[in-house]
Amino acid sequence: MRCIFYILMDSESSESEKIVLPMKRLDCILDILFLKIKGSTIKNRDQPIEWSIKHMYSSSQLAKLLAKRRGFDIEIAGIAGAIHDLAIIETGKFENHGPLGGPLVRNLLLEYNSRYGKEFGKISREEIDLVVNATINHTNKKQFDDSAFDELIKDVDSLDRFLHGLDTFDYYLKRTKKALDDLNLDIDSF
Ligand SMILES: [Fe+2]
Repeated sequence: MRCIFYILMDSESSESEKIVLPMKRLDCILDILFLKIKGSTIKNRDQPIEWSIKHMYSSSQLAKLLAKRRGFDIEIAGIAGAIHDLAIIETGKFENHGPLGGPLVRNLLLEYNSRYGKEFGKISREEIDLVVNATINHTNKKQFDDSAFDELIKDVDSLDRFLHGLDTFDYYLKRTKKALDDLNLDIDSF
């Protein structure tokens, strides 16, 4: 596999002032995820794969914004936002996909490190643990006192559903309001 990061960079370079965020690791992981989705032969999924694709990319971007507000590394937050539903992508099943996704996410990140870490930068042991734990815990939306990074991914998951026009209620609504509040936005203004 070849990550597309540099192809886009080359085509858009210019002499004018520019800012480049360090997103190579995330970009590569998004490509790995996309190839997994493309190669999937699972039929009768609990959720349409189209939803997984939309949710994967937009959660990743929202996670960066909220991470900026809450003081986390935005690339690692983007990776967690992209990958938190890996179990649904790999198995097609929704039930218990948070806990089941933990080992799958760990394996994918370790695989990334061994195949692409040298070229794009490794994901550290601590960063892997953050993403794995957030994946495991993100399905427990009722609980509001998990680690701050776990809470970030739960809130992002809820906000992304809301912004895609899905019904938003109970804990999803509470979390969406919390996330919007941190972004200085009022849910009543939507
Ligand atoms: Fe999920």
